[in-house]
Amino acid sequence: MKYKILTATLLAAFATGPVFGADDPIAARKAIMQNVGAATGAGAGMVKGETEFNAVTAALVLRTMNAAALGFGELFPEGSESGGKTTVAPSIWDDRAGFDMILAKFQSDTAAGIAAKPADLDAFKAAFGVATTNCAACHKDYRVKKE
Ligand code: HEC
Repeated sequence: MKYKILTATLLAAFATGPVFGADDPIAARKAIMQNVGAATGAGAGMVKGETEFNAVTAALVLRTMNAAALGFGELFPEGSESGGKTTVAPSIWDDRAGFDMILAKFQSDTAAGIAAKPADLDAFKAAFGVATTNCAACHKDYRVKKE
């Protein structure tokens, strides 16, 4: 029952995500993105047919992304441009409006996906596809690749 393990992992990620405080915004935003990465991995597994479609997991994937989008913007205070192995690009502080726009789109795309309640793989593919266009859209401008 692979999907049960995935669901448990996502539930754990969903539950532990917001525990990190503003004391360490770099660790917090990395942890939140790792949750998003785990959710995306679970979603991609279903889309590629590696795991069986499961509506509960599908909803959790979209909810994990949406929950991440909700608090994420608060985690970029001045002074968190470097340190803690951050891969953030300085462009977030130079172009905050552009960053906020993609973040708001990520939030609304995932909210729409949740509202659509995907009940089969095709419906999930559509919602997941829209939601995941935002990953690269944000990373290419607001994240740098580090060794
Ligand atoms: C609005 C911007 C934005 C969106 C949308 C976004 N990310 Fe990110 N992501 C970031 C930023 C900024 C970082 C770098 C955080 C840091 O290192 O301080 C990051 C880092 C990451 C990391 C690395 C975490 C670590 O351990 O350092 C992963 C994995 C990731 N994102 C996955 C995703 C996936 C998958 C999606 C789409 C489903 C996504 N992200 C959508 C901005 C975004």
